[in-house]
Amino acid sequence: MEFNAIKGFKDILPEEITNWHYLDFSFRRLFEAFGFHEIKTPLLEKNEVFSRSIGQDTDIVSKEMYSLKDSRGQVLTLRPEATASVVRAYIQHRLYEKNPVQKLYSFGPMFRRERPQKGRFRQFHQINAELIGDPGPKSDADIIAMAVFLFETIGLSGLVLNINSLGCPVCRSGFRDELKDYLKQKKISLCDDCQRRSETNPLRVFDCKLDECRNIVSDAPSIPDFICRDCREHFESLQRYLNCLNISYILNHRLVRGLDYYTRTAFEIQTEHLGAQNAIAGGGRYDGLVNLLGGPDHPAIGFAVGVERVIALLEEKQLMETKTPDLFVAALGEAAETQSLNWIMALRKSGIWVETDYSLKGLKAQMKRADRLGAKNVLIMGDDELAIGRAVFRNMATREQHELNTENILDNIRKVLKNNGKQ
Ligand code: HAM
Repeated sequence: MEFNAIKGFKDILPEEITNWHYLDFSFRRLFEAFGFHEIKTPLLEKNEVFSRSIGQDTDIVSKEMYSLKDSRGQVLTLRPEATASVVRAYIQHRLYEKNPVQKLYSFGPMFRRERPQKGRFRQFHQINAELIGDPGPKSDADIIAMAVFLFETIGLSGLVLNINSLGCPVCRSGFRDELKDYLKQKKISLCDDCQRRSETNPLRVFDCKLDECRNIVSDAPSIPDFICRDCREHFESLQRYLNCLNISYILNHRLVRGLDYYTRTAFEIQTEHLGAQNAIAGGGRYDGLVNLLGGPDHPAIGFAVGVERVIALLEEKQLMETKTPDLFVAALGEAAETQSLNWIMALRKSGIWVETDYSLKGLKAQMKRADRLGAKNVLIMGDDELAIGRAVFRNMATREQHELNTENILDNIRKVLKNNGKQ
């Protein structure tokens, strides 16, 4: 019997992992320079943590969550996103008492039962950043700049930043009513999902990818006509900061995001290279969520990056070189083999990637293996050479070789590798 991974869940194979490490290293260094600290929350939470935060009428809560009942009948859910869990932890541990502005980042798998397609999985990973305790708009600019700089740092270009203001609960309710009235008149032309959304959560209709619904919303009332003075000033200040930082953006009044907790600033970073799944990062302000989950009335803003989508772009650009061993040790004869084992282990302990052959083959077979592994250098040593205190060191790129004294062999090897710039 052969087992395959579940649909929408995928293995990350060794040959793909270099890009993951590169992204991991890059985002941590950048986020820490912005003063963010890592937080790790559990994969499972009580269902209400997500249903309350994200909203009952969103696609995520109404049809995409993986939930289970434990033996006591409590419904637990695999996290579909990180924000709700981070806010739950912020409230539970009263993090605001330690520092009124908390900057938290996290990395890990999320689970949504969506229809799998290019760039869309049922288990996917997010890099997540949350800045809790500041009303903005300077912190909005900080968060957006951090997202934009991340992609610059890893060498991705041609991305488009979309920003919008969704207003506050007060001014948005006027917009919602107006939009509802408009959609009511067009109801029969909307898809089944949008017919339902037009009643329960009309802003969601802006998210529909179907042409009929897109045409209808293109003439729908627009948020900027409804937002109040405070929200408008907030949004204008954000734009001033972004201009000052030379961060280009487009104003996208149809950008609503798929989660209900957003207030005021919403943004998405999009690419043209991934088909329909074009958002590689998305986020926004969620000033009411801490309070909604039972905490103090603290404003917040954050974003999440879709790691698989970023990795796909990195792979397409072939930005990473693959790693290969620094050294292959070809030992011939029992004495040489036993002696070299100690050297191999000592070099590995100091972080040098050393490979050798496990099967005691002849020199030709060992050199072939070194070649196949892409080893940068080979140390060749037989019993005879060992007896006179000599080993041969070959640079596989230049094919140059020279003898090394075995007396201080570890220092000698480290020196040569360093001079070659191989470690
Ligand atoms: P989101 O827009 O649902 O926001 O997800 C953020 C990013 O995760 C998306 O832009 C996309 O790159 C990636 N993503 C989402 N679903 C999938 C999927 N099924 N397969 C692959 N990648 C996916 C949030 O999750 C918010 N919690 C972001 C946030 C943080 N807002 C404030 N703080």
